Amino acid sequence: MQVPLLDLKLQNQPLKSRILAEIESIADSQGFILGPVVERLEKAVAEYCGAGYAFGVSSGTDAQLVLLMALGIGPGDAVVTTPYTFFATAGCISRVGARPVFVDVDPDTYNISVAGVARALETVPGIKAIVPVHLFGCCADMAALLELGRQYGIPVLEDAAQALGAEHPLGGAGAIGDAGWFSFYPTKNLGAFGDAGMVVCRDAELAARLKAFRNHGMEPRYYHKWVGGNFRIDAIQAAVLGVKLPHLDGWSAGRRDRAAFYRREFERLGTPLRLPVEPWAGSGRSNHHIYNQFVVQTTDRDALRAHLQQAGIGTEIYYPLPLHLQECFQSLGYKPGDFPVAERCARESLALPIYPELTEPQQAYVVGEIARFFEARPA
Ligand SMILES: Cc1ncc(COP(=O)(O)O)c(C=O)c1O
Repeated sequence: MQVPLLDLKLQNQPLKSRILAEIESIADSQGFILGPVVERLEKAVAEYCGAGYAFGVSSGTDAQLVLLMALGIGPGDAVVTTPYTFFATAGCISRVGARPVFVDVDPDTYNISVAGVARALETVPGIKAIVPVHLFGCCADMAALLELGRQYGIPVLEDAAQALGAEHPLGGAGAIGDAGWFSFYPTKNLGAFGDAGMVVCRDAELAARLKAFRNHGMEPRYYHKWVGGNFRIDAIQAAVLGVKLPHLDGWSAGRRDRAAFYRREFERLGTPLRLPVEPWAGSGRSNHHIYNQFVVQTTDRDALRAHLQQAGIGTEIYYPLPLHLQECFQSLGYKPGDFPVAERCARESLALPIYPELTEPQQAYVVGEIARFFEARPA
């Protein structure tokens, strides 16, 4: 049996004719960039996550970049974030000329450590924003982070690139703090047919800036109040996303069901894996974890991965090298051992196949192969 890490064809095929009809109507209208299709999607996403304002942009990365630019964060400023995330989270901070200040993550949730953020705020001068990442589809501890933001008078900006639809007791991912962003990279839980993203916020003045910064800081046409950039989303991507968005809650439920299956089976078999935790499960909200990824940990990670590959099972390592140890950030002065939890996660974590179309026999095969691997290992 073959079990790929992800098979997008299964999701896209049933929607293909509707998506192609939307694309055809864009071809007929010749409205390729921004316009009514984009505005419809922005309204739908704002309503879906509970944000006041939403702006479609060219990628999740550009969503963060345009937000930092619109907030005036730049040279001389620092931004506190996690070293255990996709590169873009810290890359954007650097690209606007600010300094990423890393703090370790929580060993159970993979999300930024609140105690670490509090220590950084106490000791590092010039921190202008807190950037938590809702990693793998589960929200960071937003209540505590918002309290720290209030205490220091700085915004909390949510990297919700992996978490559209995820819910925290305080609200929808991306719309809990001062602003946030989503990625519609094709492999995300809501994926476009190319790069796309969205930035959301609650404040009208920031919204006006974001709208202008997305389009060269231009307002009105050919008058530039700010130096923004071309961060616009294509209408075709918005059309694809508009067809898919109504299915997202159903897909999230499918992911949660598959996560529950893995959990039940690994617990029943006593498989020695560290399983993902669900810190907001008691909140009464169903989307407390949307399992963009199902990530387990084991000290035998590399051997397990090789075994699964042999068995035709796709896996991925998110992420093999934490950001404080990346070559491009050497000048920040971090060294191995600075963030032991993030470093351990990088050594031990493994993402297993999880998507709504994954069948029970496929999942049973994955579980069986993992159990077989551990049975053959000396205890
Ligand atoms: C946590 C995180 N932040 C930011 C991004 C950047 O999004 P994009 O690939 O759409 O630029 C991603 C997506 O890969 C991500 O996973």
